[in-house]
Amino acid sequence: MDMVNSDAVAFSIALVFIAAVITKVAWGRKTGDLAPSCNNALPRSPAVITGITSAILLLRMLRSKGLRATLEEQYTKFGSVFTISFFGMKITFLVGPEVSAHFYQGLQSEISHGKILEFTVPMFGKGVTNAVDSATRTEQIRFYVDALRPSKVRCHVAPMLQEVEEYFAKWGQQGTVDLKQELVQLLILISARCLLGKEVREKMFDEVFSAFDELTDNGLQLTSLLFPYAPTPTAQRRDRAHARIASIFTEIVRSRKSSNRVEEDVLQNLMDAKYKDGRPTTETEVTGLIISILFAAKHTSTTASTWIGARLLRHTECLDAALEEQQDIVKKHGDNIHYNTLLEMSFLHNCIKEALRMHPPIPISLRKVHKNFTVQTREGYEYEIPRGHTIASPLLINHNIPHIYKDPDVYDPHRFSHGREEDRVGGKFTYNSFGGGRHACPGEAYAYMQVKVIWSYLLRNFELKLVSSFPETDWLMIAPEPRGKVEVSYKRRMVPRNVLEN
Ligand code: HEM
Repeated sequence: MDMVNSDAVAFSIALVFIAAVITKVAWGRKTGDLAPSCNNALPRSPAVITGITSAILLLRMLRSKGLRATLEEQYTKFGSVFTISFFGMKITFLVGPEVSAHFYQGLQSEISHGKILEFTVPMFGKGVTNAVDSATRTEQIRFYVDALRPSKVRCHVAPMLQEVEEYFAKWGQQGTVDLKQELVQLLILISARCLLGKEVREKMFDEVFSAFDELTDNGLQLTSLLFPYAPTPTAQRRDRAHARIASIFTEIVRSRKSSNRVEEDVLQNLMDAKYKDGRPTTETEVTGLIISILFAAKHTSTTASTWIGARLLRHTECLDAALEEQQDIVKKHGDNIHYNTLLEMSFLHNCIKEALRMHPPIPISLRKVHKNFTVQTREGYEYEIPRGHTIASPLLINHNIPHIYKDPDVYDPHRFSHGREEDRVGGKFTYNSFGGGRHACPGEAYAYMQVKVIWSYLLRNFELKLVSSFPETDWLMIAPEPRGKVEVSYKRRMVPRNVLEN
């Protein structure tokens, strides 16, 4: 395998846009015909943005206006298909549902993650996800989908709620907290319990999570992204952390098997999973799959929960409506939170969905093109995307297209309610916070459930106010999160049911 991973370089260039960490890259000369063609029958090449002058302009724009405004400006200038080309790498942006279908559902042989995620191989280990052939990968995705399908997620409601109750029992009668930090702590506890299992939650919590932090901190350093196999000190720390986690999970798997102990966590589902030919997963595969799922779940869930909180508390009319929904449900079903009551929280669901529209934890998804394909824009122009391009689906632009989302900068959970359903206006790829198609997030049901358990509990039990100003986005984080502290004041409510019955 090449020490210098060219796709990882492409990925890192994309990260540059996201993080704005590399300076002196540029915006420039564009080629390609931007005017509508007289002959719509012939596919055209996307407009290409290239050159050092352009790169410098782009970087300036990124600094002054941010990622979303920078990409939106290119979308306004060039339309829904355009290419950014630097150092021989070409990233073609496909903006909006009309041009996104192939991105999400093209055959693996024609379009895939390629080596974009090569840096995850030393993090997750050999034998899983990006280290295996596409047939094996497809089967492993099935293991995730199966482990996280709604009927299984249902079993996690009670343990999630127990973690939530125990966590907030530590809060006083009133006070002020940094909501972001509180949710980071709580979500780790929930992940430990529901994903990794009670051995980790009860005995090895600190050990596993300090190794996991070491793994991700070092695995996501620029050198590890660009040169995943180079023997740098960062890579060595990453590999030591991986070995530590692998030995912990190998021991847990062996101990469960030898004592015939069966748990209800995601780890158990991965242990019990079987390939089509009947082969069970190996210890190495189980370890890789569980690290990978924790990686996919951790930052996305924390970021999402914090944005949801910040949005709800900022828009008091939504907060009041969400509280009213909780009160109605308590009147109907009593104070306990169950799977079925969570399903009834449709307004809270839409509040979550709307926060994720405005703040998608994965703001841009990437793929590699293995076979030329064409897309047709809303205006009817056809573009041919050549083999070798990296393609990008910029959720943060897709979710703000004004002909789809009315007043996209307004937080309006009602846009998803019956009668409006703006997330369906452009077909099935209109709303992509959880991706779509072949690599759609298998954790969507789990993620909604987790956030609903937390927020229904908070709404029922506390009066909350956002004390700090509404946060800006920190684009330097892997999942862009609210920058700085999100200070929230809380005051315990009286026993909710009594209050509600008065
Ligand atoms: C609000 C929280 C979450 C958001 C917004 C989110 C979003 C996404 C997105 C957009 C993708 C697809 C990326 C792509 O197309 O390349 C994805 C993939 C994935 N997510 Fe999530 N996710 C969340 C939570 C979770 C949770 C809680 C889990 C597991 C418990 C999870 C497990 C996964 C896995 C395993 C994949 C990879 C699927 C594949 O490669 O086919 N996610 N997620």
